[in-house]
Amino acid sequence: MLTAPPFYCRNMLLEDIPEVMAIDVRSFPTPMKESMLRYELVENQLAHYQVLAQKFTIGDASEKRIVGFAGYWLMGDEVHVSTIAVQPELRGQHLGEMLLLNMLFLAYEHPACLVTLEVRRSNVAAQQLYAKYNFAVVGERPRYYKDTGEDAILMTAELLNGRYHQFLIAQKQTLLAQIQTKA
Ligand SMILES: CC(C)(COP(=O)(O)OP(=O)(O)OC[C@H]1O[C@@H](n2cnc3c(N)ncnc32)[C@H](O)[C@@H]1OP(=O)(O)O)[C@@H](O)C(=O)NCCC(=O)NCCS
Repeated sequence: MLTAPPFYCRNMLLEDIPEVMAIDVRSFPTPMKESMLRYELVENQLAHYQVLAQKFTIGDASEKRIVGFAGYWLMGDEVHVSTIAVQPELRGQHLGEMLLLNMLFLAYEHPACLVTLEVRRSNVAAQQLYAKYNFAVVGERPRYYKDTGEDAILMTAELLNGRYHQFLIAQKQTLLAQIQTKA
């Protein structure tokens, strides 16, 4: 799990649900149901969810809060990204990138060969993030999102290529330095 003090990734716990839901509701047109997230954490053997937490101090007390989260399903040798979000006030500080990179390293560890995801056509920020990590557009699903009728863009990244792993390691060094400089 990636760490860039004061930020660190860890597995999501049931007790994280309220903080995660508070970010989710501000991040997506149709928020996830709490029962669905609970199902993902407790029942779904394919599901892997992580949070991005931040340590901070108030007076003498050391506190922690959740500032983002991500999740994926491991299906055979394929990882499908189900969600990723960062607290709105903290976007644009490479934290979404940290969550994505953390998932990509976890995908390698399983080991998976392919990472797939769907993204709304209008979601340029997310598409740019995935493109930065060499995800390629491989298709689209017209009117996939029931809430807005929007199309989904399908994107994939292949993990088998050794050069991609080297690329991720290099990205990690750059990213951790960027986050720590800003913190
Ligand atoms: C998508 C999301 C997770 C990105 O998180 P973030 O912390 O703001 O993004 P980062 O700061 O890590 O950005 C990393 C890269 O993403 C791209 N990016 C991020 N925000 C962008 C924006 N507003 N416009 C264009 N590209 C953007 C850039 O390539 C950026 O790299 P760069 O800074 O070197 O140019 C965040 O915008 C979010 O939570 N959105 C709401 C939920 C969502 O849409 N999730 C995706 C579902 S598919």
